[in-house]
Amino acid sequence: MTDKANTNWWDKWDNAAKSFDLMNSGVELRFGERKREWFARAEGRTLLVAVGTGLDLQYFPQEQTVVGIDISSKMLEKAQGKLSVDRNRQLLVRADAQNLGFADNTFDSVVTSCTFCSVPEPVAGLKELRRVLKSGGKILMFEHVRSNIFWMGPMMDIMSRVSRKFGPELNRRTKENVIKAGFKLTREINIYLDMVKLYEAVNPS
Ligand SMILES: C[S@@+](CC[C@H](N)C(=O)[O-])C[C@H]1O[C@@H](n2cnc3c(N)ncnc32)[C@H](O)[C@@H]1O
Repeated sequence: MTDKANTNWWDKWDNAAKSFDLMNSGVELRFGERKREWFARAEGRTLLVAVGTGLDLQYFPQEQTVVGIDISSKMLEKAQGKLSVDRNRQLLVRADAQNLGFADNTFDSVVTSCTFCSVPEPVAGLKELRRVLKSGGKILMFEHVRSNIFWMGPMMDIMSRVSRKFGPELNRRTKENVIKAGFKLTREINIYLDMVKLYEAVNPS
């Protein structure tokens, strides 16, 4: 019998950690170079939100300071093995994107990668990222989102009812959420139909 008192909403991510690298190897093969180019736009001290098992750490130059956060300690354990040699430059911290322990204006840039399909309260999470990002700082996002293709969106709504039990939601409206959180959207690029997107937005205040 499951003891409900001992379960957390992030347990599904702890469970996913074991097979995560294998399940996501196709994403890295297909989109890895696009991510490398896109994340190269991040400058200075960078917050990598929902670092997972650390697949994205390879896309940052060794000399860049990158703080990777995630809610799942099992994901972070896997990410430890992918840190660059210089551990003063890449750090991992267990934290909830919706309630970060960092002071206001701590980071020059924020990067997300398949993050806002997964954070339970996306607008709250994005507002929290704005708080820790310096004024004028950029958020660079690689995200899958709900399609606007006429039959695809409703299908993604239905599939999300199942997918969210084990992992991400498939029908997030991330662009709208970025704007609701008070960011100024500066770029939007489709990299697979209208479902896999790159967004760049600026913290205006
Ligand atoms: C789909 S995975 C993506 C992982 C990684 N960014 C990648 O693309 O390989 C989503 C990640 O979000 C993390 N996550 C979900 N909600 C979170 C939250 N509120 N705060 C921090 N991390 C969260 C999960 O633990 C998981 O590692």
